This record gives sequence, C-alpha cells and structure tokens, in this order.
Amino acid sequence: MTEHRFPEDFVFGTATSSYQIEGAWNEDDKGESIWDRFVHTPGTIEDGTTGDVACDHLHRWREDLDLMSDLGLDAYRFSISWPRVLPRGVGAVSEAGLSFYDRLVDGLLERGIRPFATLYHWDLPQALQDRKGWPARDTVDAFCEYAEVVCRRLGDRVKDWITLNEPFVSAAVGYSEGRHAPGHRNEEEALAATHHLLLAHGRSVPIVRENSPNANVGITHVLYPFHAASESDHDVLAAQRFDGAINRTFLDPISGRGYPSVVPYDRSVLESSVRSGDLERIAVPIDFLGVNYYTRHVVRSDVVAEPENAPRTVRPSGETTDMGWEVYPEGLFEVFDMLRREYAFPAYHVTENGAAYPDAVDREGTVHDPDRVSYLRRHLAQVARIVDEGIPLRGYFVWSLLDNFEWSFGLKKRFGLIYVDFESGERVPKESYHWYKRVIAGRTIDGI
Ligand code: FCB
Repeated sequence: MTEHRFPEDFVFGTATSSYQIEGAWNEDDKGESIWDRFVHTPGTIEDGTTGDVACDHLHRWREDLDLMSDLGLDAYRFSISWPRVLPRGVGAVSEAGLSFYDRLVDGLLERGIRPFATLYHWDLPQALQDRKGWPARDTVDAFCEYAEVVCRRLGDRVKDWITLNEPFVSAAVGYSEGRHAPGHRNEEEALAATHHLLLAHGRSVPIVRENSPNANVGITHVLYPFHAASESDHDVLAAQRFDGAINRTFLDPISGRGYPSVVPYDRSVLESSVRSGDLERIAVPIDFLGVNYYTRHVVRSDVVAEPENAPRTVRPSGETTDMGWEVYPEGLFEVFDMLRREYAFPAYHVTENGAAYPDAVDREGTVHDPDRVSYLRRHLAQVARIVDEGIPLRGYFVWSLLDNFEWSFGLKKRFGLIYVDFESGERVPKESYHWYKRVIAGRTIDGI
C-alpha cells in the first residue's frame, strides 16, 4: 500500500445545488423554476417524488453548516437559485431570497469554510422559459442581470465563482433528450441553448470580476473519456464524435478555438446562433476549469440511441453504481491527461465526484457504505496521481454532502456522505462521512 499525501493548501470540499436540497419551492416570493414546473408534471420523475421539500435545507441550513464544520471541510460548493433571487428572472429582486444566501455565506465563513458559489445549476426561472428559455438569446442578458445582482451582494465575501454547471446537460438533456426540465425534444433548441449558455458564461465573467475583486472565476463541465468498443473505423469515429459533442463542444469555445467539427449534430445549426464577437466573449480568460467526473462511455456505432444523437454507449459489464454507471477511476486521470496535453487551463478543481448506492440505516443507527468509501478512495488516489504529475489541480469536491433530489430519478438515488430521512428530515452521517473526515484531517489516503 502506498500512502498518498496531499499538499497543505489542497482544498477538500463537498458539492451540491439549490434545487436538489433547498425545498421551500414556493416560500416567500420565490418564483417558479423550470424544475418546479417539470416535477409537477405527471410522469416526469421515476419515483414520483419532487424537490418541493427535498432536504429542507432552506430551514435546516444551520444544522447542515454544523455538520460541514464537524466534517472539517475546507470548502463548500453550493448553487444559488435564480428564481429565489429574481422571481421573474429579471426586474424585481427578492430580499428574502438574497438574504438567505447572505446568511449562508456568513455562516460558512464563521466556520472557516470557503464558499464556492455556482450561479446556475439548472433551475431557470419559469418566467424566462415562458419566453423560450435558453434557446432565446435574451436569456443571456437576463443571466447577466442576475449575475450582477448576486455578485454585488455576495462578491465581497465569496471569492470562488462558477458561472455554469454542466451546460451540456442543461442544453442536451433539457432541450433535446427531454429527461430534464423543461422536457423538450428538439435538437435545434438544444444547439441554440448550447451557444447561449456558453455566451452567458463568457459575458458574465467580467461582471463577476467587477463585483468581486480578486475572485477566482471558472465554469464546470462534465467530462468523460470516450472509448471505442472496438478498433473498427465506425466505432472509433463514433467515439470521436461523442467526445466532440459532449467534451469538446464545451471545451473548445472557452479555449478560443470555436466549435469543433467532428460531432454527430449538424454544426451549421449551432453556428446559426453565433453572432459577430460571440466567440471572443466566450473565450474570456478564466482562472480555473471545474471538472465533474463520474464514469466513462464505451461507444459502439451500431447501438440504437434515443434520440438519435444521444451517445451510443455500451451497457457496462463490470462494477457499477446504483445509477448503472461504471466505476472507472482511471478515467479521471485520462481526462486530466487530455486536459494537460490539449488545453492547459491555468488551474482545475474536481467540482463533483461521487456515487449513489442503496443505503439504509441499520438497527444500530449506522449507515454502512463500504462501496462508496471504495469508490471515493480509488478516485482520490487518481487525484493524488494527477497532483503528483504537476497538473495544477487545486481541489476535490465530493458529490454530495447530503442525500438529495437526483433530478429525473427523484429521491431514491442516494449520493450523500450523510443519509437523509426524507420523511422526518433527520440527518445520519454515513461511514463514508467518517472516512472522509479522516482523509481531510490527515490530508492523506491509503493507496490501493
Ligand atoms: C451531475 C450534476 C449533479 C448531480 C450529479 C449526480 O451531473 O451536476 O447535480 O445530479 O450529476
């Protein structure tokens, strides 16, 4: 066994998002989000649950902060709910909404925890969706207005900002695959949304900087290694195309390269949304790239996909999590090796990594989750390897602190280090919580 030691200033955190934990979906003057609308539409969520209450974090935030402090977190990544701050997306600001985040940030700082705030983690105000949402260019202006309101208020204390979480998922899963809000199945909309999301990122970076002096500003992408299932030209090309659609469509433009050409979609449709000056704005320098990593895709050209341009992925045969995702820790290194060779961003954080398992509280009141410990340990060993290679990876955030509302799967997929009883709201730290606490305290993990 080798021991992996992390640098003293390496950041250990956990990550979450507003819709998945806050609940209080219609409290005070909060506006409706596309997720509120989506979950209240019958048949959209596998187990029929909603995020109306979720972890009730909006009311239990003090208890949650105390748990974070006991865990010894260096940093906490959370997102701000746009319709809680601007109920109609633009215009009137909700003081109740803004002051919640004010208290949260102060509570983090009092406990010595560094806040990492994500401006957009998928809960678009429904009022903006009523005007077409991300496929409409006006949504970019609305996002800039929202970013300014938030950063003016929190920018003196929050110094780490993430503009968007996984724009690929917002665009493709929301507007083309229809599995996420707003539930559309229209590829043209998804491609317009892709460009407008990236433009919203590019245009908001200077706004964040102006209102949050000396801040680090970045964007988070979900990245996967795409492996061809065989050496056949068809499979190799299919893997390259999905790598193009999911990784490079989001990495290339922020690196000043415009949109990639080896992709499965009609590039001219995407380019029809691009206006002069957009690509320069999207390529605005960032301080770090956030990487969400869960698994890899093995691609075979003849797999039937729905819709047609969804990745043609082979069902994994080895170890999987409760999401059905293959456990493939080496992929984390592969992603960073690719980033180092081809993109070289100034710094990185793993802004999400974690696993769902069907946890339960046993008779002694403990939650025994060895699979999660094993998953996290093996991924952290890759993190240590990436750091040892001199790649500027500065932090690692476990998804997630609490079991929460896992989008179209509902409440049944448990990703937390802390078990949540969704009936009573009770929180029970799992064994993985105690394990992560030792990792953070010792800044070391046992190798495997
Ligand atoms: C990511 C999302 C996050 C969570 C994890 C499991 O794609 O950013 O909200 O659902 O997957």
